[in-house]
Amino acid sequence: MAADRPPATPEQVEAAWSDNKLAQVLYHDWEAASYDDKWSISYDERCIAYARDRFTAIAGNSGWPYPTALEVGAGTGFFTLNLMQAGVIATACVTDISEGMVRAAERNAAGLGLQVEGRVADAETLGYADDTFDLVVGHAVIHHLPDVELAFSEIRRVLKPGGRVVICGEPTRWGDFVARRLSRATWFVTTHLTRLRPLRGWSRPKAELDESSRAAALEAVVDLHTFDPDTLARTVRRAGLVEVSTVTEELTAAWVGWPIRTFEAAVPEEKLTWGWRMFAYRTWLRLSAVDRVLARIVPDELFYNVSVTGIKPVR
Ligand SMILES: C[S@@+](CC[C@H](N)C(=O)[O-])C[C@H]1O[C@@H](n2cnc3c(N)ncnc32)[C@H](O)[C@@H]1O
Repeated sequence: MAADRPPATPEQVEAAWSDNKLAQVLYHDWEAASYDDKWSISYDERCIAYARDRFTAIAGNSGWPYPTALEVGAGTGFFTLNLMQAGVIATACVTDISEGMVRAAERNAAGLGLQVEGRVADAETLGYADDTFDLVVGHAVIHHLPDVELAFSEIRRVLKPGGRVVICGEPTRWGDFVARRLSRATWFVTTHLTRLRPLRGWSRPKAELDESSRAAALEAVVDLHTFDPDTLARTVRRAGLVEVSTVTEELTAAWVGWPIRTFEAAVPEEKLTWGWRMFAYRTWLRLSAVDRVLARIVPDELFYNVSVTGIKPVR
């Protein structure tokens, strides 16, 4: 997939250090072309099931399909396009602050034969009229927003009375702490082991590894928050939503999933066969099943992912 936008100039990158919204645009525009590969995103049964299961875990499965949905920070369309294929959403608008991401989402939708309206929009100032959508969704987005409460107020404004917001896949404080350390250790071990002569075929060229390291440094600029589930629920209530609840998922699945993703980023793409990807996915599925049992005894803030839902009150 070709990038829509030219790479950021050195002046833009310099300015981004003191302008977080600009940093989000530059980083995600740059990421858009390779985003689906980086995160092993697909639009087949594997990711349809993933998106549907994340949605169902927090919001159940009644009222499907929601007639009109909006996604904030939609990226390449992973969540909405797979929820449409799962029958959760009938029609959708996909928005993102990065134009590169919006164009990628539109291309993915066209490739799947799905009709979506793409629009560049900041989640804190959505350009839609009041009371427009039955559902607003987001996935792995609110940890990038400077003012999370403002974004939920804006989401409440564009929801119809009785409409629902569902935000999934946000990092918890403790889950993120553990995942980052496991990822750093995996990166160190993989990049050092693949320098050894018998394993050189598994090493990526230095220029590519340097680019990944620079990207990791920028991630520190664009990743603004981690969440405590109860504090997040209070933020959503303050924004005027009711029937607010949270769910956390992935404990052992994250302990293995993050090292796997980091390993995949550290070795050449051609080494990652379909068999490997399915093995990684099935391992994640099995560990997720273990985590559902552990959820009965392990405190929810120790899990990696938090999802939150709420309803706009009917006046
Ligand atoms: C980690 S990506 C997730 C993308 C997609 N939701 C997914 O799960 O694959 C975060 C996305 O949030 C977008 N984003 C960051 N700040 C934003 C803002 N203020 N308003 C809207 N989108 C934003 C980024 O451009 C990026 O596409």
